[in-house]
Amino acid sequence: MKVTVVGAGAVGASCAEYIAIKNFASEVVLLDIKEGYAEGKAMDLMQTASLNGFDTKITGSTNDYTKTAGSDICVITSGIPRKPGMTREELIGINAGIVKSVSASLIEHSPNTIMIVVSNPMDTMTYLVHKTTNLPKNRIIGMGGALDSARFKYRLAEALGAPISDVDGMVIGGHSDKGMVPLTRLATRNSVPVTAFISDERLNQVKEDTKVGGATLTKLLGTSAWYAPGAAVSGLVQAIACDQKKVFPCSTYLDGQYGLNDLCIGVPVVLGRNGIEKIIELELNDAEQQHMEESAEGVTKTNGLLEL
Ligand code: LAC
Repeated sequence: MKVTVVGAGAVGASCAEYIAIKNFASEVVLLDIKEGYAEGKAMDLMQTASLNGFDTKITGSTNDYTKTAGSDICVITSGIPRKPGMTREELIGINAGIVKSVSASLIEHSPNTIMIVVSNPMDTMTYLVHKTTNLPKNRIIGMGGALDSARFKYRLAEALGAPISDVDGMVIGGHSDKGMVPLTRLATRNSVPVTAFISDERLNQVKEDTKVGGATLTKLLGTSAWYAPGAAVSGLVQAIACDQKKVFPCSTYLDGQYGLNDLCIGVPVVLGRNGIEKIIELELNDAEQQHMEESAEGVTKTNGLLEL
């Protein structure tokens, strides 16, 4: 199992680290345009191997795509991150050009790869890969919902005073502050609906805190977060590499599901060796469906800014 991660910044390096620590991949190739940067990150990470007990070989390269040849999974994290006060949508001008050329170079050397898109605005970047490459749609996956759901579970556990391992919940919709749809109605604490434990008002606060999860961190850190994004990507990569058939909300191309068409947006999918093996259609209530449609409108509007 060979995995390439393009962009050796904080998110890309965290992806590589979590993938290596989970010890299921034989090789991780880190790529960056900054001279020596990916090589340095790879070497530093390799020097944690004996300490953290992994055998995954991590190598780095300055933009040499021949090193990525034959990758089973490619992750695109390249592009500029948000600064405090910026929306993910404001990054489109610069990041669209980067994602378009990076995805083309990756496919040239790994025509059978599964592509995971992390660069923001993520749903639109995933759509861009869908429109500008010939990869089948099951092999194009946008990472947002897995991260947003992890943030949702963190906030739920905090509100419930419960351990995070007892909490389950999912965020669907677009990976944007307004677009996220945290499914509070379906969230559980060890199989019991969380609505049995907390007031509507508190649950609403959880929802709002979840939606601005990334923005809150950007304000604190001065740049976009990396640990949880990296861990979320490693979860998707492992589900594919180990054919786990796990369910994650991921951005995927919809043609009719949820009443939505011609966009990539977060919905629950089954991830296995073939990438997206199934799209799960949840029965949403009217308010959730309406929120999902508003979210889709936002994503479609951002897609309209692409020069396709
Ligand atoms: C975040 C970025 C990765 O939400 O979109 O932290």
